[in-house]
Amino acid sequence: MTSAYNMNIRQALSEYPKENLTSKPTPLQFLPHLSEKLQVNVYLKRDDLTDLALGGDKPRKLEYEIAQARAKGADTLVTCGSSQSNHARLTTAAARKLGWGCEVLLSHDQWHAIQGNLLTVYLMGAKVTVVHTDDHWDLEEQALARCEQLKAEGKNPHYIPVSGTTKFSCLGYVSGALEILDQLAEQEVTLDAVYTPFGTGGIFSAMLLTFREKGLDCPFIGISVNRKLDQCLANLQTWWSALCELLNLDGIFPKKPFEIHDQYIGKEYGDPTEACLDAILFLARTEGILLDPVYSGKMMAGFLAHSQEGRFQAGKNVLLLHSGGVPAIFAYHKVIEEHLRKRGVLT
Ligand SMILES: Cc1ncc(COP(=O)(O)O)c(C=O)c1O
Repeated sequence: MTSAYNMNIRQALSEYPKENLTSKPTPLQFLPHLSEKLQVNVYLKRDDLTDLALGGDKPRKLEYEIAQARAKGADTLVTCGSSQSNHARLTTAAARKLGWGCEVLLSHDQWHAIQGNLLTVYLMGAKVTVVHTDDHWDLEEQALARCEQLKAEGKNPHYIPVSGTTKFSCLGYVSGALEILDQLAEQEVTLDAVYTPFGTGGIFSAMLLTFREKGLDCPFIGISVNRKLDQCLANLQTWWSALCELLNLDGIFPKKPFEIHDQYIGKEYGDPTEACLDAILFLARTEGILLDPVYSGKMMAGFLAHSQEGRFQAGKNVLLLHSGGVPAIFAYHKVIEEHLRKRGVLT
């Protein structure tokens, strides 16, 4: 790899191998009805429409991570997550596309019905181990132990952590952010704010870094779905530094102005808060676009709250990243049904 600090981020990215798991670009759409209601121009980047097994953010991430695995001769992907893990769905789909084996360790949490993402994981035939823990972050040790067993059986497993975030997978959202910048230029849109969900912070860190490096300096806003602010900031620093190293960037360009909000999480990760369910209902009825109760619905709840607080003047341009996750609505159907009753949609 060329090591020159002044190398263009696009050039530096192009030196990393990647698998082709989804067609790109995904659409960047103006939402006319929502924009009219809020008096703000809202644009939605439709990464829910990546074309691997019901879509989402993971194909972009896995393209770079799996290329690393292939270079090491991997033949099996091993990962872990919550019972409604989007990452488990898309890692299984990617393994099938490559003709590789796939094993997933999933927590037996309250969303363990054979529905939504979990249903698709079984359909695509990953070897599933259900572990009786409420916290899917505890599963890493067992997943690594399983990799050792697989090696003893003559396989060559590649472990991908919860949510699929690694320094290489973050490159997927450097690429995603460059794609957005190209689309904004084509559509002649100048942004006043950007929103993304913040889980492990892989997407947020990679997009923030890319936008700042390319000179886009509007407020960049993350809505946390599981972690308090201090942990989010620590994650941001980790992925920021890792990416600067991979891309030969000196990392001294400023991150600011950015914000991470941790008050939309609810009681815990995956809690379908009232504001989140209202946000899902609102976008569905305004634009016919579905959000999920874990990531994109929370992000929309944060954006709508800010908008209602009068944060954006009329005519400002706001971009939201729809990172997918929609299959989870089928596992959450009872809560969603109750919410529809509460709001008088069902009687
Ligand atoms: C649908 C969806 N959106 C967003 C995220 C969060 O991405 P990150 O962990 O990079 O913050 C995830 C992570 O699992 C996800 O499944």
